[in-house]
Amino acid sequence: MESRIPRHVSIIMDGNGRWAKNRGLDRLYGHKEGVESVRACMRAAVEDGIEYLSIYAFSEENWNRPEEEVQGLMDLMIMAMKAEIPTFLENSARFIALGNMSRLSELFNRTVKEITDATAAGTKCCMILMVSYSGQWDILQAMKKAAAQLSEKDFLSLTQEDFGKYLVTAGIPDPDLLIRTSGEVRISNYMLWQTAYTELYFTDILWPDFREEQFREALAEYSKRDRRYGKVK
Ligand code: IPE
Ligand code: IPE
Ligand code: MG
Repeated sequence: MESRIPRHVSIIMDGNGRWAKNRGLDRLYGHKEGVESVRACMRAAVEDGIEYLSIYAFSEENWNRPEEEVQGLMDLMIMAMKAEIPTFLENSARFIALGNMSRLSELFNRTVKEITDATAAGTKCCMILMVSYSGQWDILQAMKKAAAQLSEKDFLSLTQEDFGKYLVTAGIPDPDLLIRTSGEVRISNYMLWQTAYTELYFTDILWPDFREEQFREALAEYSKRDRRYGKVK
């Protein structure tokens, strides 16, 4: 029987804006409080022996938000990456960022490199920041990369398994569990290829209120799921 602890948990962190609005605060306060939830889930993931925790922090579509909010989110992510290096090291955890990195600032890319390099030797949980990412963008860039690297014959004989090697998530197992907070029941252009057989978990809780306890509730629900992959069990 397969392990009941998912190897890879992924999260569409949603509801920061509504959380702030409910308190009469600016949306940015919701994003700030959301960083605390990321810390909490990371702690729980490390404790529970989860190998990969990926978090959807900023989509390609989120570039269309007001400039002030985009800048606020970028500043927050940069601050959090800088501040968390010691915590990653204490926990033997590793950090990587995946997405359309060319759209992000030089400072953002430099900060990503700093934390990625500093934590590269981490052997426990790998946290993956999905930033300036969208599933359709990923599939398209994979197709272009494969077309550029392969002969026509090899391109035409690509298998589903081989194709995964051209996605930005190459080498990372597909998510076992995808959590989305805030009551929205959609994928919002997240990992479209990689979630083919992912267990989906939707909760009404807004992201800033999603902490260790809520993370573990999602894991408990996952442990009851019967994953059949189209077979008869
Ligand atoms: C999630 O919260 C954070 C990002 C998408 C960057 P939102 O900012 O989408 O919050 P709501 O959905 O407006 O409440
Ligand atoms: C999805 O949330 C993107 C991230 C969590 C980064 P959105 O708030 O952008 O999604 P929609 O607009 O409700 O689909
Ligand atoms: Mg939202």
